[in-house]
Amino acid sequence: MATEYTPTEMMDRESRSNRYYRNAVERHWDPGEIALERDVENLLAFMEETDGYDRESWYGTLNGIAKFGAGEDAVTEDLAPLGAVLDNIDDQLFLTTQLYEEAKHADFFDRYWREVIWTVEDELGWERSNPRHERWFNDPYIELFDRNRKAQFRLLEEDTPENRAKAYCHYHLTVEGILAQTGYYGMQTSYGGEFEGLPHLPGLVQGFTKIRSDEGRHVGFGMNQLKKLIAEGVDPHLIEETVEELLPLVQGITEDERFQPDDPADRRGLESGELAEYAIEKHTDRMQQITDAAADIPDVDDLVALEGDD
Ligand SMILES: [Fe+2]
Ligand SMILES: [Fe+2]
Repeated sequence: MATEYTPTEMMDRESRSNRYYRNAVERHWDPGEIALERDVENLLAFMEETDGYDRESWYGTLNGIAKFGAGEDAVTEDLAPLGAVLDNIDDQLFLTTQLYEEAKHADFFDRYWREVIWTVEDELGWERSNPRHERWFNDPYIELFDRNRKAQFRLLEEDTPENRAKAYCHYHLTVEGILAQTGYYGMQTSYGGEFEGLPHLPGLVQGFTKIRSDEGRHVGFGMNQLKKLIAEGVDPHLIEETVEELLPLVQGITEDERFQPDDPADRRGLESGELAEYAIEKHTDRMQQITDAAADIPDVDDLVALEGDD
């Protein structure tokens, strides 16, 4: 970490980080502008039409939203150490957009809970649910976010190439690349109006679509940083091992079925097996792009396609 003032090098407009930064600026969106009224209407109509829809079924819907909301808060808080140690101006520019975007994601979920979830509960005369209630967060969830926080704050004590690689592995490759992308894909598909037994939530889906596109850029940045670290001598096995150690935790989160109906026939949406397959496929492609010196990290135009923004 620099301690004395020295003027930075000029920006490198051709660098990947600078182009990702520009891409973030050009694709700016406002979480306050997504229309949420139809989500309230559709939820109320769906609940009325569905026999036996009770508080337990409602928790099944809230579970994913609560996990994402708290997750976006956590990653917003945990990104600052990386900002403190990065010494390249283009990396720094990008990281600033990422911090801002994580804050917008947290903002979207907070707004969704207040304007959709609570409105529906008020309408039904139910007690307002707490998005931070401990019931939403199982042990693997707490453990993964705990380990991520430690990996980030470690940089403030010992900023080595290996510790930076571990920080990107926790945050960009695992929490964002595997957990978030898988979850967003699952939720986007489940509430996109394709499944008969699930409500269509257009505001939620629109928010997810915007967030996924931002996350695609974040993951691309992390991959590129890892590729640079390997070129500087970090052992690729460290990357593979770090992510592999975290995979059972991710699985414990995506397969949290405590809020699902007991009878599998009553379950709607994507099966957890389909989600796991999707996650592993994405991860395998990314590892190959990071570790193969000849393979290219997706450029700005390919970032959205990379994450399957469909
Ligand atoms: Fe995010
Ligand atoms: Fe992110």
